[in-house]
Amino acid sequence: MDIVTVVGARPQFIKAAVVSHALLAAGVQERIVHTGQHYDPGMSDIFFSQLGIPAPDTNLEVGSGTHATQTGTMMIRLEKYLLEQRPDWILVYGDTNSTLASALVGTKLNIPVAHVEAGLRSFNMRMPEEVNRIVTDRISDLLFCPTSTAVRHLENEGISQGVHLTGDVMLDATRFFAERAQRFEMVYPESPFYLATIHRAENTDDPDRLQSILKAFSLMDQTIILPLHPRTKSIIEAFHVPNNVTIVDPVSYLEMLSLITAADKVLTDSGGLQKEAIWLSTPCITLRDETEWVETTNGKWNQIVGAHTESILKAVQTDPEGACPVFGEIPGTTASNEITRLLTT
Ligand code: UD1
Repeated sequence: MDIVTVVGARPQFIKAAVVSHALLAAGVQERIVHTGQHYDPGMSDIFFSQLGIPAPDTNLEVGSGTHATQTGTMMIRLEKYLLEQRPDWILVYGDTNSTLASALVGTKLNIPVAHVEAGLRSFNMRMPEEVNRIVTDRISDLLFCPTSTAVRHLENEGISQGVHLTGDVMLDATRFFAERAQRFEMVYPESPFYLATIHRAENTDDPDRLQSILKAFSLMDQTIILPLHPRTKSIIEAFHVPNNVTIVDPVSYLEMLSLITAADKVLTDSGGLQKEAIWLSTPCITLRDETEWVETTNGKWNQIVGAHTESILKAVQTDPEGACPVFGEIPGTTASNEITRLLTT
């Protein structure tokens, strides 16, 4: 059994870290291909070193570009690698351009594709990630779903073959690394604070939405720590950043887990951060008009408010009800072990 795992963006490094450990423990040979979609040391290298991910067998060094340039360049370079290597499986994660490029190349070379985090839907086709997910799910041979909601979405699209409910590998990662994160020295000791992230195109590329979010931040009663994705960093320079917002460089995974745990609330447009907040019992406010992770919204633990100043402020003043929602688990095993079992049987 010889697996090629393709990763390229920050959340994929985190997911691949826990599955790589499980594959190694099961004696499976895995080679990692880094597409180079994320290339800044703080967006890439730090994750490999901190999470103990095996060094990539190759880096396609694709870098930034338009969607077509980025995806097309990845496909051309990945095809060359796969024609030489001919693995038994290609393992892909999530919904980025790296995911789509790998699934397309693998399928056309008749190399089976396994998709981790299959079946997620926002039902918003203006999101590039939604297009990537739908196409990847349609052409994958094994579809590993984190939740039963994801299984249902695939059923509704007529996809049932190769579909498995595995639980969520990000829950494995959160549990495994949260303990280490507790021992991690916090670099931003200001307390109390809210933790915010903004990187989705729908917010960064729409000045009205970004302005409205920043206005909400300016009216909050606490410091907001805002680790900034390079995309947002270059855009936000044209805006007035409120005095109570502390902008910091992108943070490592352990640092992020410590920040989430210490924060009073999380405000984000990220997918993964919504879940991590709930698993770490920090209420979340999602700066998007919809979420793929509907389980997180139970008891108002995650409030989906879009980019309206008033709605964001109201959500910050609303506390969740009852215990944190539980999701992403399957009985008796972990998602990483279940994925490893399914790939090897
Ligand atoms: C990508 C994924 C998104 C995921 C996010 C995680 C797609 C379509 N989107 O979005 O689903 O949530 O990763 O972070 O694949 N840049 C740098 N240095 C880097 C990486 C990016 O400066 O190391 C800048 C470049 O200007 C680039 C822009 O950020 O053009 C956007 O990067 P890109 O990888 O295209 O998409 P993300 O916004 O990171």
